[in-house]
Amino acid sequence: MGRQWWWGRGKSAKVTSMSMVLVLVPLILGAEARKGRVLESFEYTAMSCRGHTASITDFGGSGDGKTSNTKAFQDAVNHLSQYASDGGAQLYVPAGQWLTGSFSLTSHFTLYLHKDAVLLASQDMNEWPVLKALPSYGRGRDAAGGRFASLIFGTNLTDVIVTGANGTIDGQGAFWWQSFHKGKLKYTRPYLIEFMYSDNIQISNVTLLNSPSWNVHPVYSSNILVQGITIIAPITSPNTDGINPDSCTNIRIEDSYIVSGDDCIAVKSGWDEYGISFGMPTKQLVIRRLTCISPYSAAIALGSEMSGGIQDVRAQDITAIHTESGVRIKTARGRGGFVKDIYVKGMTLHTMKWVFWMTGTYKAHADNHYDPNALPVIQGINYRDVVADNVSMAARLEGIEGDPFTQICISNVTIGMAPKAKKVPWTCTDVDGITSGVSPRPCELLPDQGPEKLKACDFPAEPLSIDQVLRRNLIGWKFEQWSNLMSTISIFSLSKVSNDGLIWKGNEVGVYSVSSCVKVCSLGSEDVHFWKNIMRRGLVPPRVESFMWQVVLQKLAVKTELVKRGVLGIEDVLCPL
Ligand SMILES: *[C@@H]1O[C@H](CO)[C@@H](O)[C@H](O)[C@H]1NC(C)=O
Ligand SMILES: *[C@@H]1O[C@H](CO)[C@@H](O)[C@H](O)[C@H]1NC(C)=O
Ligand SMILES: *[C@@H]1O[C@H](CO)[C@@H](O)[C@H](O)[C@H]1NC(C)=O
Ligand SMILES: *[C@@H]1O[C@H](CO)[C@@H](O)[C@H](O)[C@H]1NC(C)=O
Ligand SMILES: *[C@@H]1O[C@H](CO)[C@@H](O)[C@H](O)[C@H]1NC(C)=O
Repeated sequence: MGRQWWWGRGKSAKVTSMSMVLVLVPLILGAEARKGRVLESFEYTAMSCRGHTASITDFGGSGDGKTSNTKAFQDAVNHLSQYASDGGAQLYVPAGQWLTGSFSLTSHFTLYLHKDAVLLASQDMNEWPVLKALPSYGRGRDAAGGRFASLIFGTNLTDVIVTGANGTIDGQGAFWWQSFHKGKLKYTRPYLIEFMYSDNIQISNVTLLNSPSWNVHPVYSSNILVQGITIIAPITSPNTDGINPDSCTNIRIEDSYIVSGDDCIAVKSGWDEYGISFGMPTKQLVIRRLTCISPYSAAIALGSEMSGGIQDVRAQDITAIHTESGVRIKTARGRGGFVKDIYVKGMTLHTMKWVFWMTGTYKAHADNHYDPNALPVIQGINYRDVVADNVSMAARLEGIEGDPFTQICISNVTIGMAPKAKKVPWTCTDVDGITSGVSPRPCELLPDQGPEKLKACDFPAEPLSIDQVLRRNLIGWKFEQWSNLMSTISIFSLSKVSNDGLIWKGNEVGVYSVSSCVKVCSLGSEDVHFWKNIMRRGLVPPRVESFMWQVVLQKLAVKTELVKRGVLGIEDVLCPL
């Protein structure tokens, strides 16, 4: 019998169901629905998207802010990793202050923070393992040699989500910033979240405070969604970059708010000869609806470590307040690599030193072995629809002598200068390109083509694949697993499809919502609209004893219906059970 079969798989003393608690109330109400009454749909949270759920307290965790939870977190992840091929698992962190050192995640895994959960980073260096320097950097950035593992770390993983109802991860960075300033660090400071060699990563709806150094660092990874995150660090804190996609492909950063002591987003791909020989670019990056405050750095920086190359970046709807520059390209002789096909559309900027800044003489090198003949190719840099006020200088564009930055296109830009602005608003050397509808008047190296070229620097027509790929790749279940499930619970059959959802009929009936699970797992793409419409409601047996049981039904309903409608590949669309 299906139910037993299901329970047989989920039976583990350690695995409690937080989700179940949340959902019991609607379930009891569901008894009413036996008569066919349609309940108001209710929503459960992202948690329900995994087959197994446990709380950090099941592993001896203590949220008193004093007890170290490093072991509890690692035990929890190790235990839950057994479910990777069985619907995946979620680790729930309840309200409380959870002191912890670095710990590693596993595949098909969700770390979910309650809104009042705070992960507090330990200040005991013994709680931070030391990793080798990244191969594309050759050395640590703070010190030659190794680097501390990030607070939340993952390597060689697939399908991992770090999320929560805006729960907090507090790096307690002051201690690290001081050690850094005093030159006392033996190793490079840790980041808050780092994924290496991983695929299908989502980081959403969390707040990151006071990182020791960079906040979010996906490296050598692909299919990454960063959505709805808040990053806050003092504007004078050293190297507290917001989000640093580094040698990654297919990244989408959306709806995030960053206040920091360094670049809000810093796109990277390795350093000098190490980055050149590693040769892994960052490409197909989408940045949307970013708000940045960073008085000493850029809203979006490309480089300075760009030796593996940066290509196909699309940034849209960027707001920066009191930030040093809007978009900045940082490079130098010895970097090699390229920055190509960069498109920025729609920036609103208040109080800024340089709206556009390109630097071909960025000083820092990994060591003295770089090749001075390794010249970067900077080409195809497009900016349009920019409004800025209180600006000291419109642009400072400095290419490399003998290696000009080419195909620069700037259009439809209105820059209001500050009362104390520099007399010459544009300075340009070793650059080449065009402008249209830009004020104040650009430098001669970027001649104005007249108003008919206003749309000259537009995005390419074809979208980047990231908006589709993520959804397709968040695969948990293979087709066989679905069919197995279906045959097991075949006593339920689809009886009716209404406009606002699926109606299910089994022995008994009830109503539930599947939209939130779907929302989270299909990552807010356009198709969600479609999904929502067909999946908002269904009928299930009222005396369902486990929440997971319902999830099975829900997914099944969705799948069955989509198969019926001839939608292909839907096993790929649904999040893992
Ligand atoms: C992770 O993947 C990389 C690249 O494929 C590989 O070189 C490395 O050995 C893997 N590490 C582990 C721990 O599996
Ligand atoms: C999340 O929390 C941060 C810090 O408290 C706050 O600034 C931000 O507005 C919150 N975001 C949401 C979406 O509630
Ligand atoms: C983040 O939170 C917002 C607002 O609560 C919600 O609409 C959205 O679905 C959440 N996104 C993810 C990816 O969890
Ligand atoms: C110019 O930019 C403004 C906003 O920055 C935008 O509203 C307007 O539509 C743009 N004009 C054209 C021709 O694209
Ligand atoms: C303009 O920028 C200066 C710094 O350059 C700042 O002190 C001042 O407050 C800004 N004015 C406004 C109106 O934002």
